[in-house]
Amino acid sequence: MSGAAFPPRMRVILLGPPGAGKGTQAARLAEHFRVARISTGDILRRNVSGGTALGKQADAFMKAGKLVPDDLVIEMVKARLAEPDCRGGFILDGFPRTVAQAEALAKITTIDHVVNMFLEPEELLKRSIGRRVCPKCEAVYHILSNPPKVDGVCNRCGTTLIQRTDDAREVVEARILEFESRTAPLVEFYRKKGVVRQVYAAGIIDEISHRLFEAVKAP
Ligand code: AP5
Repeated sequence: MSGAAFPPRMRVILLGPPGAGKGTQAARLAEHFRVARISTGDILRRNVSGGTALGKQADAFMKAGKLVPDDLVIEMVKARLAEPDCRGGFILDGFPRTVAQAEALAKITTIDHVVNMFLEPEELLKRSIGRRVCPKCEAVYHILSNPPKVDGVCNRCGTTLIQRTDDAREVVEARILEFESRTAPLVEFYRKKGVVRQVYAAGIIDEISHRLFEAVKAP
């Protein structure tokens, strides 16, 4: 492992509305800095498709574009952060999403950077509605901006791509509203702690990665 690519302060939260590009960029950040990536959306979707007790409780909330209850998600993240790969740092993608979640997280760990990815609402809709995902390896594509090499097929594992059930327009709109009322207040919560970095999320994916890499190098 190259020491140069491993800054000591890499406990990062990616904050931003649905479709801002958190998942795309979290994967790149985690690979670049060799830290764990924790996507609560991915963990919940795995539980739903695996038919676990957690998945059964979460399913209806997710289909409606609503947040899953705090107590379920907090326990899930606590367990994940206790795993050994998180010791060298982590990128939290999709957590916390409420003040109660942020307060619970503060009792578990310190956060070095909260990157607030912001983007115009019409672009958020386009990105979510055009998204396709691999149900096997969880790779994310977009039919226009980030298409797979072969139409409808995952580059990495050859599996047929699908559209997330919560990427229907009306569910995306509900998710954006949920973000505005329950998650956006976290910017102020973390601003008071002096850890917020603002990143405009429009542009090509590589450019945005560069902005994020710079943002998390900030003192
Ligand atoms: P989650 O999976 O976390 O969804 P989200 O936060 O709504 O975010 P998205 O995954 O929709 O978007 P993203 O910002 O990751 O964008 P992406 O990189 O994919 O959560 C799903 C559900 O789980 C929630 O609704 C809730 O029910 C539940 N949940 C999860 N966490 C929870 C929590 N903490 N508490 C309670 N409930 C929770 O990019 C989007 C598209 O745009 C892709 O197609 C991508 O290829 C494309 N794209 C990316 N970057 C660019 C670019 N620069 N230019 C053009 N296209 C781009």
